[in-house]
Amino acid sequence: MRLAVNIDHIATIREARKAREPEPIAAALVAELAGAQGITVHLRGDRRHIKDRDVELLRQVIATKLNIEMAATEEMTGIAVRVRPDQVTLVPEQPHEITTQGGLDVLANRAAVTAAVARLRDAGIRVSIFIDPDEAQVTASREVGADAVEINTGGYADAPPSSRAARLDEVRRSAEAASAAGLEVLAGHGLTYFNIGPVASIRTIEELNIGHSIIARASLVGLERAVREMMELIG
Ligand code: PXP
Repeated sequence: MRLAVNIDHIATIREARKAREPEPIAAALVAELAGAQGITVHLRGDRRHIKDRDVELLRQVIATKLNIEMAATEEMTGIAVRVRPDQVTLVPEQPHEITTQGGLDVLANRAAVTAAVARLRDAGIRVSIFIDPDEAQVTASREVGADAVEINTGGYADAPPSSRAARLDEVRRSAEAASAAGLEVLAGHGLTYFNIGPVASIRTIEELNIGHSIIARASLVGLERAVREMMELIG
């Protein structure tokens, strides 16, 4: 199973002071040196953390896989076509949310998602869609032409102990359905050093996207150690 590290929070610290440091590009390179197989950033409409210059510079320096999360808008897909990341992950976006709230409803946004997927794939960019663990969303993702889905593990991560096993099972069943449909299966959101184990044991999941927990640990023990420790748990 591969690990892609989401470095948005490095940019969040920079923007807390509108300063030059810490530099997200440096963090991406350290994460790669520690063994991460991909770097993920979310280019939000309000540019509250990652900026256009960050994705442009990351494109030039990343040696592994650059994944940009974005809304399925013309503005965002236009940037992707210009910057050419290895992968775009389409996500829903609400202006005042603290972080992404749930998966993209592909059924309800079929026209916009279909147009975004076609535009990105025509430019040679792989497209993943961040969806809730719901088999109807898996089917719709395949129908709109996605290469991959990222299953939202937030429900599992936030579940009380009494319902955690059921939420994990939803993730497992969706991952199996996506794999059977020929989609590459990724997963992420809310994963930590303490809840990663059961998700890491789902063999149909090929890649995990993890941000907050790794950067939080990095602030105390250093980024290289934080990435290595997560990779050991993923196996
Ligand atoms: N996947 C998606 C689609 C996300 O939006 C995020 C948060 O930016 C993550 C994964 C990573 O979540 P976390 O920061 O909770 O690890």
